[in-house]
Amino acid sequence: MAGHSNYVPQSAAAKWLESRLPVISLVRGSFVDFPTPKNLNYWWTFGGILFFVLIAQIITGIVLVMHYAPNEAIAFASVEHIMRDVNFGWLLRYMHANGASMFFIAVYIHMFRGMYYGSYKAPREISWILGVIIFLIMMATAFMGYVLPWGQMSFWGATVITNLFSAIPVVGEPIVNWLWGGFSVGNPTLNRFFSLHYLLPFMIFGVVLLHVWAFHTTGNNNPTGIQPKSKQDTVPFHPYYTMKDLFAIVVFMILFAYFVFYVPNYMGHADNYIEANPLVTPAHIVPEWYFLPFYAILRAVPDKLGGVILMFGAIAVMFVLPWLDTSKVRSGTYRPLFKQFFWIFAAVCVGLGYLGAMPPEGLYVVFARIFTAYYFAHFLIILPLLGFLEKPRPTPNSISEAVLASGSGKPAGAVAAPETK
Ligand code: HEM
Repeated sequence: MAGHSNYVPQSAAAKWLESRLPVISLVRGSFVDFPTPKNLNYWWTFGGILFFVLIAQIITGIVLVMHYAPNEAIAFASVEHIMRDVNFGWLLRYMHANGASMFFIAVYIHMFRGMYYGSYKAPREISWILGVIIFLIMMATAFMGYVLPWGQMSFWGATVITNLFSAIPVVGEPIVNWLWGGFSVGNPTLNRFFSLHYLLPFMIFGVVLLHVWAFHTTGNNNPTGIQPKSKQDTVPFHPYYTMKDLFAIVVFMILFAYFVFYVPNYMGHADNYIEANPLVTPAHIVPEWYFLPFYAILRAVPDKLGGVILMFGAIAVMFVLPWLDTSKVRSGTYRPLFKQFFWIFAAVCVGLGYLGAMPPEGLYVVFARIFTAYYFAHFLIILPLLGFLEKPRPTPNSISEAVLASGSGKPAGAVAAPETK
């Protein structure tokens, strides 16, 4: 993260600290003087937004835990106690519950941004892979968090998802019993999910630090996909991007506040206000919206094990994305064919999300199968082939040239340089 600071300690105390633990120059090098491409657009503010939401989740979570009881007899009542008796408990809970959804909105935008502008391509493969790891831990954290209020959806969602592991031949059943800590979802399950739900956000925090370290080592990508060539292509992170990120965070907070104050249960399920009851199965067991595309893939396959493999495969394929895209040009801006396939892919993901919320019958299943096939085809067939078939538009020679060209309304000059080098 460091290495770019012009910081020279002035006071005796600062010199003393710097020679022992250069934390000031580390922070200045990473978040003050850090040379950042001057053409980053608002899609680049979502990393900062994600950081803000992560911190908000950790803080509201820690305070919620002061009043929550992870015991099957009183978990549901303790959440009602938070909502009704604890000062501003309703606010804490609604912020935390809606914060999870906001986190996923931001992360999906962040990931699609990366896919459009080729941020996963060399030399940023590690930033991308660490991102996919963060995404996986986020999903585990959200899943376990949803179990804690011990409502009907908490209980039955946990039952359905943990049961997926029983599809594994031979060891499936023992694994499920081991996960549950018994022979059904119960108090031991609630306890361990609580423990892990508290732990995982701190692991996310740790991986985020590595994530930032990785893309600070390679430098940020930017909308042209061209590496900065001179000092003119960059500006210091502070005040240019601290202010831009802050503005975006405030706008995002307005959306967040709208959900918290006006429609706090919009993204939740009404059945979760009924206490968990192992004897009554809800008519439809639906996961939270952010899992729906993966849920649709799971149910698209008639075979349980096949469904589980494809569902995990849908995430696993992202790990190798940097090597599946064979194009020499990084940014989608200069890739006419890729652009069209990108938007089809985005629509297919939204479509899968819709189908995940529908009952698995009739035309819904047919479309879920077509979309699932397309999802994998995008990564495994379309992206590898496009690199060979597509003729990219000429790329500008530098970021400055692109910025000046867009300002003057003239097309950016010149040569199609293989800028992934
Ligand atoms: C808690 C979650 C996350 C946080 C706090 C976070 C934070 C950040 C920040 C601050 C940046 C630089 C600014 C920006 O590009 O927006 C960034 C860049 C990046 N992120 Fe994330 N990120 C998270 C999750 C993810 C995920 C899930 C992925 C992909 C699967 C990902 C992939 C990337 C890539 C490839 C870059 C380099 C992009 C570039 O410079 O263009 N991140 N991230």
